[in-house]
Amino acid sequence: MGDQTDARPPARPPARIEDTPGRYCPCCDRHVRGGLKPGPDGRPDATCPHCRSLERHRFFAVLLGALRPALGRVGTLLDVAPAPQPRAQLLRLEPRRYVRCDLRPGRGVDVRGDLTSLPFRDGCVDLLVCYHVLEHVVDDRTAIRELARVLAPGGLGIVQVPWRPGTVTDEDPDAPEEERVRRFGLADHVRYYGDDVEDRLVEGGLDVHRVTPLDLVGPAANTFLGLGQDQSVWLVRPATDGPTPPWALPSSGGLGDTLEAMVTEIAALRRDRREARQALRREQDARSGPAAP
Ligand SMILES: C[S@@+](CC[C@H](N)C(=O)[O-])C[C@H]1O[C@@H](n2cnc3c(N)ncnc32)[C@H](O)[C@@H]1O
Repeated sequence: MGDQTDARPPARPPARIEDTPGRYCPCCDRHVRGGLKPGPDGRPDATCPHCRSLERHRFFAVLLGALRPALGRVGTLLDVAPAPQPRAQLLRLEPRRYVRCDLRPGRGVDVRGDLTSLPFRDGCVDLLVCYHVLEHVVDDRTAIRELARVLAPGGLGIVQVPWRPGTVTDEDPDAPEEERVRRFGLADHVRYYGDDVEDRLVEGGLDVHRVTPLDLVGPAANTFLGLGQDQSVWLVRPATDGPTPPWALPSSGGLGDTLEAMVTEIAALRRDRREARQALRREQDARSGPAAP
């Protein structure tokens, strides 16, 4: 009697999303077949060709989706230096008031205001977004105190700055333009944050919790959504004198597992489709026979 197991096809290695072309942009909800374009500094795999989102915008969109159940109905949403790319995700929160504030007037800005003296009363903001602004501000300590001041008790801020883990903040507002580009990445940046960014947030009166894409969605979804290698976001809320309440965070394990499974499934479907196409082509070639001499 033959061994039944001999007839089984050899086990296929699991499909890996890393090996499949294309990305998915969670800002514009589109599949980016040809892959992401380089970023402004030439880094690969950064810009969505449809909506121009970068890694940080896409992670923000994912994070916001994950936080949505915990946020509930948002009262006042303050978006400092609003980016257009994740706007749809913010609007999905259906905030009662949505205020977009920037130092400079422009399209998509409702209120002109300086982060170091925000034109809002104490404790009036339920959700605050402040992405890639603090590195532009000379007096970032005052700006951070402003974030803490306008946040309502129980309010949440989502803050991101460019930072290099394992370093100390490098700053010099008086450095000449060329040097600022070299040291801080752009001519209008006055620093590059290091590990002490968290100390600054805490000293400014905030309780902080750092979230990374890998923690939240796992490696496969991180790649598929083009979230980058070194993104970190700080969830912040006004520090209290009493006991620190627990953070109402998205369950990273559950979300990560689900996205990992989804992304692996997509990779497997793509591989099956590719193999089916190849098989069909071979069959058609075989049917059409050898080419006439
Ligand atoms: C690199 S853009 C960030 C835009 C967007 N948040 C994003 O992540 O793509 C920096 C923005 O910060 C704004 N900004 C710089 N200094 C500011 C200040 N002191 N107060 C408010 N906004 C400021 C600039 O006007 C600019 O719109």
